[in-house]
Amino acid sequence: MKKIIITLDGYSSCGKSTLARQLANELNYVFIDSGAMYRAITLYFLRQHIDWNDETAIHKALGEITLDFQNNELTGQSDMYLNDENVEALIRDMLVSEHVSEVSALKEVREFGVAQQQKMGEKKGIVMDGRDIGTTVFPNAELKIFVTADPAIRVERRFKELFQKNPNITIEEIKNNLEMRDYMDSNREFSPLRRAEDAIDLDNSNLTREEQLALALEWANKRMQ
Ligand code: DC
Repeated sequence: MKKIIITLDGYSSCGKSTLARQLANELNYVFIDSGAMYRAITLYFLRQHIDWNDETAIHKALGEITLDFQNNELTGQSDMYLNDENVEALIRDMLVSEHVSEVSALKEVREFGVAQQQKMGEKKGIVMDGRDIGTTVFPNAELKIFVTADPAIRVERRFKELFQKNPNITIEEIKNNLEMRDYMDSNREFSPLRRAEDAIDLDNSNLTREEQLALALEWANKRMQ
């Protein structure tokens, strides 16, 4: 069977990363959460107090950033490393979520992210999830999936996930953050969130994880023949 590139795009908190990770496990492919890369860049910018209207400061900051995914032996998942520091937990913080859409809309940040993501896919055998993976990063990917889910279900899923780490978080905060990010991610100038014309739609509002995985595996197997 030939090795292919699989892309999963969609709005925030549709379960893209969960499905992408499961698919990669089943196929023995590399899984890349491209959102984690933009989150790590945002964390660095916040820590360094980078003014994102200052192109020189952005350029300099990007030159100081090394991003890397490393396997976590305890969880079996790959964690995001920023300049050799494991930032997997920190990048899920609400502060990062509040600014990541602004930072990831910057032209130079996009060029930086897209170039690294394209390099990761050179050997194929990769599942990557994000917003512009099937349109900008891998427009020739063999399988493109556009994931959707009912907005209320997305808020609830996100709430359950974040409440475990932060019991002070409210549904309202999460709803506002998801709406704001969806709007900004879809309306930015460079590489906005778009459904690729040749993508397959997957609405997982009423699907179990197993059901959505079975569907995606069926599509992948056909493309791998
Ligand atoms: O997938 P996520 O919610 O962790 O992504 C965080 C943010 O990163 C998202 O709101 C927009 C940005 N992003 C992007 O612009 N392009 C991608 N390919 C992935 C994420």
